[in-house]
Amino acid sequence: GWKMEDVLDEEIKVIQGKVGPEDHVICALSGGVDSTVAATLVHKAIGDRLHCVFVDNGLLRYKERERVMETFERDLHLPVTCVDATEQFLSKLKGVVDPEMKRKIIGKEFICIFDDFAQHLERDLGKKAVFLVQGTLYPDVIESCPPPGSGRTHSHTIKSHHNVGGLPKDMKLKLIEPLKLLFKDEVRELGKILAVPTAFLKRHPFPGPGLAVRVLGDVTEENALEILRQVDEIFIQSIKDAGIYDSIWQAFAVFLPIRSVGVQGDQRTHSHVVALRAVTSQDGMTADWYNFEHKFLDNVARKICNSVRGVNRVVQDITSKPPSTIEWE
Ligand code: XMP
Repeated sequence: GWKMEDVLDEEIKVIQGKVGPEDHVICALSGGVDSTVAATLVHKAIGDRLHCVFVDNGLLRYKERERVMETFERDLHLPVTCVDATEQFLSKLKGVVDPEMKRKIIGKEFICIFDDFAQHLERDLGKKAVFLVQGTLYPDVIESCPPPGSGRTHSHTIKSHHNVGGLPKDMKLKLIEPLKLLFKDEVRELGKILAVPTAFLKRHPFPGPGLAVRVLGDVTEENALEILRQVDEIFIQSIKDAGIYDSIWQAFAVFLPIRSVGVQGDQRTHSHVVALRAVTSQDGMTADWYNFEHKFLDNVARKICNSVRGVNRVVQDITSKPPSTIEWE
């Protein structure tokens, strides 16, 4: 690999060359490793001409907004504007079940919000935003549209990652993607050099479209998001308590659009089924399902059914990538 110190110096120079002295830059922070490292890097290059925005799209995990805002302010000293766009996203997603359609809608809403934010900067503060920072990584680029001459053989779009292929062509802001040639482990290394806290750098990846690609079918299905948040939190917390969080590339729960029959107390139930997925991986391009101890799975399943209303069955995903992708949609 490359020396990350050199990559950092090089990227800072590129950004300083690209962004004119009167230009301002918007960065969409997702709360994940990639966008945070990208923002920290750009901040180092252009200082307070960077304006970070964190969008609560209503598709975030349990307490994610509070946790993320606290980290940015307390640990990273990155000034962030939080936009609550829950209604805006969920109303557009209502009734939509096609996975690609969901991704397109979400990508489009994000861009609307960034454009609005750019207008606000210009109108209210006299700052002209010209660029948008994205934490796109090399695997995202390859999977969405392989760069010409990359020697990669994918001939079609596997999924339109919203931070790559899913962006509308008519977006006014130009893109800055400082991590575009890097893999995840390299981004974590870069983050370390930039003094991003280690605990933060170890966070599992979380997809841009959020829980929308983990609630299969209609995201606005009654209580689906709420149930998923609770189940996911129990699963992740159990993984942390077992001391295995850092051995796993990514772990999460999936809400299935079906019901199954169960018996709880002496009541027959007809409730939701959730799936648990955990994988190991180097770069997200291929992955193996993670083999938990039986005792661990037994405890998690019990805890979920006992404490999350509306769930009476827990299943585990035991497929690798390929043939499956990591996310279910
Ligand atoms: P898949 O499901 O394609 O996921 O095997 C590979 C990795 O990418 C993440 N992922 C996304 N990240 N925007 C993102 O920023 C997206 O649209 C997106 N889709 C998938 C996924 O969580 C996994 O780590």
